Amino acid sequence: MDLDEKTRKASWNVPMPPEELERPYDVQEVFRTDTVPPAPTMLTRSDYDLGTEPLDVERYFTRAFHDREVEKLWGKAWQFAVWSYDIPKPGDVHVYRIVDRSVLIVRQPDMSVKAFINSCLHRGSELCKSDTHRKALRCPYHGFTWSLEGELAWAPSRWDFPQLDPQSFHLPQVRVEEWNGFLFINFDDDAPSLKDYMGLMYEQWGGDQPQGAWDFRSKYKAVHLVKTINCNWKTCMDGFLESLHVLAVHPQITNMHPDSSSQYDVYPNEPHFNRYHAVLGLPSKMIASNPSGQEILDAFTGSYLPEHSGTEFGKLRDGETPRHAFGRMARDAYGKRLGVDVSSLPEAELIDGTQYLLFPNFTPWPSLLNPLVYRFRPLGNDPDWSIWETIFFLPFDGERPPSCEIINIGPEESFLDYNAMGALDTLLQQDAEQLPLVQRGLKASKTGKLTLTKYQEARIRHYNQTIDDYLRR
Ligand code: FES
Ligand SMILES: [Fe+2]
Repeated sequence: MDLDEKTRKASWNVPMPPEELERPYDVQEVFRTDTVPPAPTMLTRSDYDLGTEPLDVERYFTRAFHDREVEKLWGKAWQFAVWSYDIPKPGDVHVYRIVDRSVLIVRQPDMSVKAFINSCLHRGSELCKSDTHRKALRCPYHGFTWSLEGELAWAPSRWDFPQLDPQSFHLPQVRVEEWNGFLFINFDDDAPSLKDYMGLMYEQWGGDQPQGAWDFRSKYKAVHLVKTINCNWKTCMDGFLESLHVLAVHPQITNMHPDSSSQYDVYPNEPHFNRYHAVLGLPSKMIASNPSGQEILDAFTGSYLPEHSGTEFGKLRDGETPRHAFGRMARDAYGKRLGVDVSSLPEAELIDGTQYLLFPNFTPWPSLLNPLVYRFRPLGNDPDWSIWETIFFLPFDGERPPSCEIINIGPEESFLDYNAMGALDTLLQQDAEQLPLVQRGLKASKTGKLTLTKYQEARIRHYNQTIDDYLRR
């Protein structure tokens, strides 16, 4: 029996509550009773109406749609290429591939960053096949050599290239920009700047100076998982843009997570981002049981803070809500575990999940309990396969720890085999077992249509509308 069957079986026979009791909590009201208010940008909501039109399934599996995405989406959109601190020293090189395109992101002698097309101007070989450190960019085939700045430094049989002008024989560059420690590239010379592309998201994060949980530059890369999965990159990403699947896929957290109460924000005239906020500390409105405050608290400590599970400190105090107790315990446990002061972090940044999607595939979470970034990409030219990365960032005190090694998880392997993320491993594995089922079911569809919720799946509708805009251009 796989994990999927084991964890869900218990929930299959649980009665569902009547419809009238399912009305969600208001996240803004939850924030108003928190002990530390969240960042001002969280005290707003935007439920811009995108309608209820069905979505065509063919976008998830046809080669024709994939080919259009390759040309008009991946060739035009800003995309996260590499964590800046993964290439800290001059000569550090990261190889970023997206379908058939290959790019070198190179730390320069002056500590700036340049990106080059990873293709030799002689007979086309890739210059680097994987992340490396170089004094110069030397082609492995015949030895053509370019400086780290991309200028021609040496050519074999120079006398035999009379047509070659060393002043112009530079490696072609790709646009690269940094925000919050993340390096983004764009193949389109006419695209807006990254800041303009991000739109309101840039301001919501505090521009180029994000603070607190929003500041990723004050964190280091602690875990980096690369999962190969048998579904389209969008099928995979959709699994992380809503909380609606929590009831059926992650029933073990419904005692402490009001899944159907998450807040989803999409904005008019903001095609490149959307966000959601998933609160913790209240039970799901979709379960018929009514857990006590202590049961809610035990579900939390059992999953995330075992050091407080069953202890005196782990007891609900008089007048305290489970959510406030989550905050009290998380401040204590994370402060000790990480050696950093998290005492003034709001509950919303400490225990909840806020997640942004920066179109097309980059999802940072300004949150300490889930300090994540996901990235979803096609794997080669097969629309049924994708690469799903989960990157876990932690704050540090003193000198920056080095970035972790990457863990590759094959299609048949489990997140639980690696046990790198604690309580999150179970959640990720549950998603990993569900998503290939979606891909197969999409292809079996008779109606050819998906029926999305109006509100809770608005982010899926939103980014798909942006894809359609790109494909029409
Ligand atoms: S292909 Fe690069 S040197 Fe010949
Ligand atoms: Fe999930």
